[in-house]
Amino acid sequence: MKATYNPYNPGAGVPPRELAGRDQLIENARVAIVRAKGGRAAKSAIMLGLRGVGKTVLLNAFEAIAEEEGCQTALIEIDPNTPLAQQLAPQLQHILHRLDRMKKAGADLQKAFGALRAFASMFKATVGDVDFGFAVTPATGDLSIDLTDLLVAIADAAKKRDTAVILLIDEIQYLQKGDLSALIMAMHKVAQRQLPLLLFGGGLPQLAKLAGDAKSYAERLFDYPPIGPLDEAGARTALTVPADREGAKFTKEALDYVIDQTGRYPFFLQVWGSHCWDAATKSPITLDDAKRATEAAVAALDEGIFKVRLARLTDRQKTYARAMAEFGAEPVNSSDVANALGLSLSQAAPIRDELIKKGMAYSPERGLIGFTVPKFDEYMRRAVPTNGKKKTAKA
Ligand SMILES: Nc1ncnc2c1ncn2[C@@H]1O[C@H](COP(=O)(O)OP(=O)(O)O)[C@@H](O)[C@H]1O
Ligand SMILES: [Mg+2]
Repeated sequence: MKATYNPYNPGAGVPPRELAGRDQLIENARVAIVRAKGGRAAKSAIMLGLRGVGKTVLLNAFEAIAEEEGCQTALIEIDPNTPLAQQLAPQLQHILHRLDRMKKAGADLQKAFGALRAFASMFKATVGDVDFGFAVTPATGDLSIDLTDLLVAIADAAKKRDTAVILLIDEIQYLQKGDLSALIMAMHKVAQRQLPLLLFGGGLPQLAKLAGDAKSYAERLFDYPPIGPLDEAGARTALTVPADREGAKFTKEALDYVIDQTGRYPFFLQVWGSHCWDAATKSPITLDDAKRATEAAVAALDEGIFKVRLARLTDRQKTYARAMAEFGAEPVNSSDVANALGLSLSQAAPIRDELIKKGMAYSPERGLIGFTVPKFDEYMRRAVPTNGKKKTAKA
């Protein structure tokens, strides 16, 4: 059917035409935001899930809700190579300017601006010029103390203006360890004082463990809603509603088949939906169309995101990943992978850690390792043949 009307949006962070199956999560976020704004206790949440489940689009949806509710928001995507302070400072400055416009600068706001300036100069972050005209308490250089002071000062200023600050942080698993524990400590203080500042995060599933390692109370401080494939009804809605809006339908067989092929993963639903649209010449989209769509979708994924991800691996990482793939889609024991490679556990561990650091693999619990992208195991088996010989990864 006409490409110009194709209603599916495959792509990282691209909002779907129909954000299906996430009503409860969105409602929970709205409740927390409204409670925080009203000065009531509310819990921050970090969504954990594999790539392509819709964490980023949910963070964007939460941001929109927070704006609608009159809150001040900052959304950042963690870059593994930039310290948190540098990524956060300009966003916090933006929030302070917005608070400033809500009511003529009171002493509270001056204090927050001062904390920000001290913070920025201590951690080499760039913020625009602000004329303070008063002495600034210097930062200590200890991120957990300075970030706590800063967030508390900002949240205090927000409270006085009957608003709330909503921080949205994507790819949280890329935070450096010290940054993560500082952020947790700062949020702990904010929560203890019941200040109107909430954090919504998104990250790969190993994050809860990382956070727990960083600070034991982090486990109670945040909710960690797991984000996974959509349920059956959600997956159907994700496919049918966008088509409906363009006056097109799926046959029942086609729909069942596509849902099965995608494993109900949001990203794959968009990819398959899009290829079904292209494969069909008219509505309804038939099983035949959907089967041709599968061929095209798999080829496009292989040449696109899968290939790009494989290209980011060094030889020994590739060999490790290929050995993992042999075990299938579910996380596998890293000792089994080491065995398959003919390596000792301690020889294989650094390679496994490199894959985790690159965001290619994650460890849902001690000893287990899995791919962060669904279907990547299938791709590895297709793309990287084993010639029957035992592969050895040089440790
Ligand atoms: N609830 C949903 N219903 C339909 N499509 C979705 C849903 N959530 C995400 N998508 C689609 O899935 C893809 C990946 O979303 P994204 O937010 O980037 O995932 P993540 O951040 O978890 O990797 C995008 O194409 C998006 O449009
Ligand atoms: Mg994302």
